Amino acid sequence: MADLGDLQSLTSSITAVTSPFRNYLNDLHAKYQSLNDGAVADYIPELALAKPEWFGICVVTAEGQVFEVGNCDQLFTIQSISKAFVFGLALEDHGRDYVNSKVSVEPTGEAFNAIVLDEVTNRPYNPMVNAGAIATADLIKGHSSTERLKRVLAMFQRYTGREHDINVPVFLSEKATGFRNRAMAYLMLNFGMISDRIDETLDLYFQQCSIMVNARDLAMLSATLANGGVNPVTQERAIDEHHVQDVISVMLTCGMYDASGEWCYRVGMPAKSGVGGGITAVVPGQLGIGTFSPPLDAKGNSYRGIKVCEDLAKDFGLHVFNAAKPERDINEWIAGGNDLNDW
Ligand code: DON
Repeated sequence: MADLGDLQSLTSSITAVTSPFRNYLNDLHAKYQSLNDGAVADYIPELALAKPEWFGICVVTAEGQVFEVGNCDQLFTIQSISKAFVFGLALEDHGRDYVNSKVSVEPTGEAFNAIVLDEVTNRPYNPMVNAGAIATADLIKGHSSTERLKRVLAMFQRYTGREHDINVPVFLSEKATGFRNRAMAYLMLNFGMISDRIDETLDLYFQQCSIMVNARDLAMLSATLANGGVNPVTQERAIDEHHVQDVISVMLTCGMYDASGEWCYRVGMPAKSGVGGGITAVVPGQLGIGTFSPPLDAKGNSYRGIKVCEDLAKDFGLHVFNAAKPERDINEWIAGGNDLNDW
């Protein structure tokens, strides 16, 4: 009979044979775990409780294979990553033209919380900065604030395949301190860009930012977009296929705030970051990446998360405009592997 030592070495050799990509991710995680740059966000007091060493990486393919390493079960608040997906729901609720009449799709080159509107049309610049995200939240349909929130939570469940809760202390912390967001909302009300249910819409915006997710959820969100709007594990449709292109395009041009140009140049994956330390990145038709590491750079993007996505893009030629033969063929590396243990 095999003893524990035999079993362990058998298991690790099977993993090594069936899933070289898993070993690659382990190495990537080890490479950047010791990186101590950046700082945990503290402008919302509750966010400052995150541990700087938390670090998870998850990759989900459009075929539903899941690879993960590190703190992929640790919950944190989705923050601005929610903006891309709520934009998708607004598109479903009203169609592209109406949404575009309220929110433009132009990068700002400014910080995510800049108080700035298009001088000619008075629209917020795009749905990924706070002003645009508040205008987008205003568009979410529902007969009551509870119904609107339920629709947002149900949408996230379709993407990730599991139920989500709000982190109430974070929500209350944002509500108590979000004066800039309140100022933007009133500015947009002044220009007729949003309806006068200001408090309800701001609550919805603060609640969507306070939804709790883990790194695996973030990979599932982007894998669903990569798979044309269908969750590759549950096979449930999360968003109408006609709106996937619009969501992904705005992620590519505006998803990393005033670092979006640099990100597109170096990484080339439509992505969205949040001040909770998450990044979700889409490789259309192929896979979704979710990273979680709370220390942020000066522009509000996760330091380790950026490094991980840069390496994945370079090593596997995942930049959407890459035309060269990649160093490694992702299809060969992921063949046969799957870490879908706890589902
Ligand atoms: O509006 C805020 O301040 C936050 N709830 C969302 C900000 C965010 O995640 C910006 N991200 N990098």
